[in-house]
Amino acid sequence: MRKVNQICCIGAGYVGGPTMAVIAKQCPEIKVNVVDINQKRIDQWNGENLDELPIYEPGLKEIIGETRGRNLFFSSDVDTAIDNAELIFISVNTPTKTYGKGKGQASDLKYIELCARNIAKVAKSDKIVVEKSTLPVRTAEAIKSILDNTGNDVNFEILSNPEFLAEGTAVEDLLSADRVLIGGAETESGREARNILSWVYEHWLPKERILQTNVWSSELSKLVANAFLAQRVSSINSISALCEKTDANIAEVSRAIGFDSRIGPKFLSSSVGFGGSCFQKDILNLVYIAKSFGLNEVADYWEQVIIMNDYQKKRFADNIVSTLYNTVSGKKIAFYGWAFKKDTNDTRESAAIYVADLLLDEQAEITVYDPKVNAETIYKDLDYLNSRDPEENRKLLTVVSDPMEAAKDAHAVAILTEWDEFKTLDWNSIYNDMLKPAFLFDGRRILDKEHMEEIGFKFYKIGQS
Ligand code: UDX
Ligand code: ADP
Repeated sequence: MRKVNQICCIGAGYVGGPTMAVIAKQCPEIKVNVVDINQKRIDQWNGENLDELPIYEPGLKEIIGETRGRNLFFSSDVDTAIDNAELIFISVNTPTKTYGKGKGQASDLKYIELCARNIAKVAKSDKIVVEKSTLPVRTAEAIKSILDNTGNDVNFEILSNPEFLAEGTAVEDLLSADRVLIGGAETESGREARNILSWVYEHWLPKERILQTNVWSSELSKLVANAFLAQRVSSINSISALCEKTDANIAEVSRAIGFDSRIGPKFLSSSVGFGGSCFQKDILNLVYIAKSFGLNEVADYWEQVIIMNDYQKKRFADNIVSTLYNTVSGKKIAFYGWAFKKDTNDTRESAAIYVADLLLDEQAEITVYDPKVNAETIYKDLDYLNSRDPEENRKLLTVVSDPMEAAKDAHAVAILTEWDEFKTLDWNSIYNDMLKPAFLFDGRRILDKEHMEEIGFKFYKIGQS
């Protein structure tokens, strides 16, 4: 079977960076070039201080330290890397469209298309092109058509190899993946391409965990896997609202239903709402695809998962306002956490952004502390919503690097991300520094109600009365 010596990955982001680092680690004989048009990002990947990589993931800096300069290289010379590689991964961003047809639902494929055109322009020999970004079904077909019609008469095989890593555990997820999915054409050259990509993963994963399918099944499976996971979170969050009105406790309900082996215990933690770059985007894609085939009931069914998630974020913000005597105007509220989950500096679609936005509408003064997210990102997230003047965002919201400072003289603390360090903060001192009565809103269910009430907090926990 054909093997490959050089791989190229276009896009050095949350997917491309960790995935290529792990491939380089596990396949020392393959040269892996990761390229990006964003020079600043490449410089950060090449930076001397491994604590300043552009992406924070547990275990990543160690792998970068081992492989960078050995068989892993970061560069902005996209064309050379394409030319030299036999296998090209496309891992560029595919945000939800903010304009035109499919606005707010369909994925914006302009970056993918630019990539495909670039490959077509540069490639002088046969290539296997792997779509790694999350994409709507039938994107592979579009990539193939661009490549075949503008290329220099070389043969392109397109594979779909969706990403299943979760941020915060990316390295572990890649090293011991439940499964790898490879979709490709049912032709001889398609099967050969699938086997070559499978061979890369077989360096460290048992063959039976590498599933081969046709391209569309692979693309659709990615959307469906994320829709199912998000649906579990929305389902449990819908029940959390009911628990708050009754004496049921959501943790006990989760545990009780999770013990049923048909249901299972994972993805049943109630929270202020799911975030991240995949769940919402993938469901919106599914909804858009269903609608475009006239399957309105199917579209509505999945859309409800997002409606429930929006409701959960709003419910959390509304609860803060009503608890603080129906006005938060001019009141200081400390946010602990801005990332969409712990152990990542990614903030895309984070619940914190929407909760902050709702509170800023009420003229609250917010102070944010997150151990890994910087002020620039936080303001960018808020400005992107376009709810008010950027200046107003900077006036009302401050970012600090110390949780004690964030809570000083605050009326309330709200926990938006489940960072481990929040569990061991000196909550007595925090309480002492706050205005009284001191309110604490736990949107991530990480603190013990009894203990916090003993300290003196007026304590609210999602899913518990
Ligand atoms: C997800 C998928 O898990 C991954 O397979 C896919 O490749 C990309 O999308 P990710 O978005 O990185 O990964 O994080 P994930 O761990 O799935 O969490 C998504 C959101 O759901 C987070 O905001 C998280 O806090 C929330 N969540 C998760 C809950 O609120 N409760 C849970 O029980 C689990
Ligand atoms: P993801 O979570 O999907 O990895 P990111 O936004 O973290 O998304 O990363 C995508 C990367 O792809 C960005 O660093 C962006 O600069 C890069 N990118 C987008 N378009 C191109 C392109 N045409 N050529 C090279 N890199 C690109």
